[in-house]
This record gives sequence, structure tokens and C-alpha cells, in this order.
Amino acid sequence: MIFPIFFTFALLLSSSLASVQDFCVANYKAPEGPAGYACKKPAKVTVDDFVYSGLGIAGNTTNIIKAAVTPAFAAQFPGVNGLGISLARLDLDAGGVIPFHTHPGASEVLLVAQGTIIAGFVSSANTVYLKTLKKGDIMVFPQGLLHFQVNGDKTPSLAYVSFSSPSPGLQILDFALFQNDLPTELIAQTTFLDVAQIKKLKGVLGARNLKHEAHEFVVQEVHRVPKGNAENPAKNQHILKTALASTQFLCYVTMIFPILFTFFLLLSSSNAAVQDFCVADLTAPDGPAGYSCKSPANVKVDDFVFSGLGVAGNTTNIIKAAVTPAFAAQFPGVNGLGISLARLDLAVGGVIPFHTHPGGSEVLIVIEGTICAGFVSSANTVYLQTLEKGDIMVFPQGLLHFQVNGGEATALAFVSFSSPSPGLQILDYALFKNDLPTELIAQTTFLDVAQIKKLKAALGGTN
Ligand SMILES: *[C@@H]1O[C@H](CO)[C@@H](O)[C@H](O)[C@H]1NC(C)=O
Repeated sequence: MIFPIFFTFALLLSSSLASVQDFCVANYKAPEGPAGYACKKPAKVTVDDFVYSGLGIAGNTTNIIKAAVTPAFAAQFPGVNGLGISLARLDLDAGGVIPFHTHPGASEVLLVAQGTIIAGFVSSANTVYLKTLKKGDIMVFPQGLLHFQVNGDKTPSLAYVSFSSPSPGLQILDFALFQNDLPTELIAQTTFLDVAQIKKLKGVLGARNLKHEAHEFVVQEVHRVPKGNAENPAKNQHILKTALASTQFLCYVTMIFPILFTFFLLLSSSNAAVQDFCVADLTAPDGPAGYSCKSPANVKVDDFVFSGLGVAGNTTNIIKAAVTPAFAAQFPGVNGLGISLARLDLAVGGVIPFHTHPGGSEVLIVIEGTICAGFVSSANTVYLQTLEKGDIMVFPQGLLHFQVNGGEATALAFVSFSSPSPGLQILDYALFKNDLPTELIAQTTFLDVAQIKKLKAALGGTN
């Protein structure tokens, strides 16, 4: 009685463990992929890859913004690559400013370790969320939204920020608008700023030491923000608004322009965060979320088109079934896009045996015939259904499932995955088609040794 339960439990466990990649320490010598650097060979990874001491040192705030950002992103701290997290240290001298910016790739949490910081962000609905933070306070800045930090106090402040990405990115607003080759007329059309204003800022930011000048511009305006009032956020907003209204920058625009301007900035920021595509470069190493990106100059329309699913798979085999994948490995255009497909052909009596896709959920649509499909949940519930032409069924990521042709005719289905590389672990292969010792399988599955040996023999397993 108890063994079938243990058996299912062990299988689920083995399937989910098999899908886990412990870490993917950044290999700086290989190209980046859609979610970070390629993985260093595990044999070359040392503990130092997981430790970073750079945030123990105060940044140099002897500069025009009286502030310093010290990052511990994947580029500095290889151990965070692929792990969805990173940190930075912010040092703000009295009057220091981190200018308006976005992190296109991550949300941020800030912890004030010393002093006070006036911090704020602007939502997509154009609401300003502004607060004077004291030592020990934390504040979150949602992904991609414009935000800033200011030390309005007379003593230095220190904060640590954590990001929901190992490479959150940083887009400084003024640089994005005025420090590139976007035509002035176009900026005017799309921001409603005066041409003279745009030219002035382009003049300031486009010449000499660009970074230096940008900071100078920003600090000239923002360092006038008086000390905030922790007890009265409304007053803080008033203070900041007054400060901003007094800036030369906004003197050039009328009442409506700040609103349109902010809207444009949000739009432009979010557009800037988008990578249109990352067509798989199958000759470069894999990264944590797929293949490296092919150089956009080499991308052709054929990378986005795949005709292989128009051809029926060969079902003349022991399972009377065939799976034809259009994963990133076959269909490079889906790399990094979170999607892929496959074609299932099942002859009469055909079976797609119990398997999992560790990296993706699946939706199946029946095009021809009848398919009996089912999956088993972590709570060990079985969800089983006979599907007719036009029916669709979803199979949650990583759960064991199967498809059987229960009808009298050939069946055809297409499946779509929530990943360009969903992976495929066939249960019997995982158990019986490798060199896992029979005794260990018996211990860990409660199957009889004779049964294991029989299946190993059938599938070509050893030991
Ligand atoms: C800080 O930066 C300033 C300006 O670049 C430089 O003169 C100074 O030597 C730096 N201080 C330290 C401790 O590195």
C-alpha cells in the first residue's frame, strides 16, 4: 500500500532536483545571454566568486554630485550571475544627490545605514512617492520607474541597495534625453520642450566631459532642496516641488509641460529597457536563460520563422509516437522570448511516456483525434482528461505528465511552452537508462531489484 505513494514522491523529488542549477558564476570571457553571463565551469569556481568585499569601502564623494555609487552587480561580483539579485553601496555627502534615473532590469530596495535620505519615485500613473528616510528605514523602488535619492542633511549618509537582478542596469534621465544624437526637433515634438531649452541642455551635455557636465547640471538644480521633514511627507513633497519649480530647467515650460514631460520620460525609459530579441547564437555557450545573442546585424527573417512543425513526425517506433520540437535549439528566434512549441504525433495506441519539463509550463491543443492526458501535482493529485479536437489543457511547470492516444485514429496536437528551452526529462530514462546503481534505485524507489534490472536491460541502463 505505502510503496506507490513513496514511489511517486521519490519521482517528483528526483525530477525537481534534476532541474536545479545550483549556481552560474559569471564567465567574463564568454558572451552575455538574455539573463546574464555564461556560466564558468563548476570545476573553476572558488569561494571567492561568492564573496565580495568592495562594499566595505566608502565611495569617493569628492565630485560634483557629492555622491558615489559602488556596485556589486554581476560585472563586479560574479557569484550573483543568474541568481536574480545584486547590491550596491550609496555614499551621499551633505547635499549629495543621486540624480533621477531608472533601473530597467530590476526593482530596488534601499536601506539607510547612516544619516537621512530623501528618496522618491514616480509611478506610471504619474504619482510621486516621496519620503525622508532615517537610519534603519527601507524603501522599495519598483522596476523601471524613475527615482532619485538626496541627502538634504548636514551630515553624510550611507545606504545599501539591493536589486532583483544581477545586472539591473542604470539609465540616467538627462543622459537619455540630451546626451545622444536624438534630433532636437524630434525631442521637441515628443517632449513639448522648447527647442532653445533642448539645445541648451544638449550643449551642456554634448560637449567636453559629458558625465561631469551632466552631474553639474543636475546638482546645480537639485542641491537647493532644503532639509526634508520626516514627520510630514506632504511638506516634503511641497519642498521638493518648490525646489523643482525654482529650477531654471522648468522655467522654460508652462503648467502642462511637466506632466507631459514626465509621461514621456517614463515611456522613453521603459522603451529603453526593452531588448527586442536575442536570436540564439548556437555557436556560443549557453547562459542561465538561454543562448547568447547573435549580433543583430546577422539576424535574418528566417531566424523568426520555422517550418519544421508542418511535417508529421515518424511514429513507426516502440511508443508509436513522435515529438518534434521547435525549441531555441531548433528555432533560434524564440531564444530569450519565454516561449516555444512542439508537435506531437500519436499513432493509434501511441504514448508520450511520463515526463517533465523542468523549465516550462505547457499548453496542449488537440488538432486531430482524441488524447487522454494527465499530470500529477506536488500534492499527489492526478488530473486526468480525455481531450477532443479543439480542447486545450495546461500542464504546470515541472510536474510529471503524459499523453496517450485513446482513440481509433491518429492524433495530432501542438504544445506551447512558457520557455524557449523547456527541457524534457523522461521518467524511465532518468531511472533506468543511465548508470545509477540498481541497489540505489531500489533503496530510493522501493522497486524490486528484478524489476529495475528488467527495465535497465530494456532501456540500456548499466550498473
Ligand atoms: C576623490 O576624488 C577626487 C576627485 O577626483 C580626488 O582628487 C581625490 O584624490 C579622491 N580621493 C580619494 C581618497 O581617492
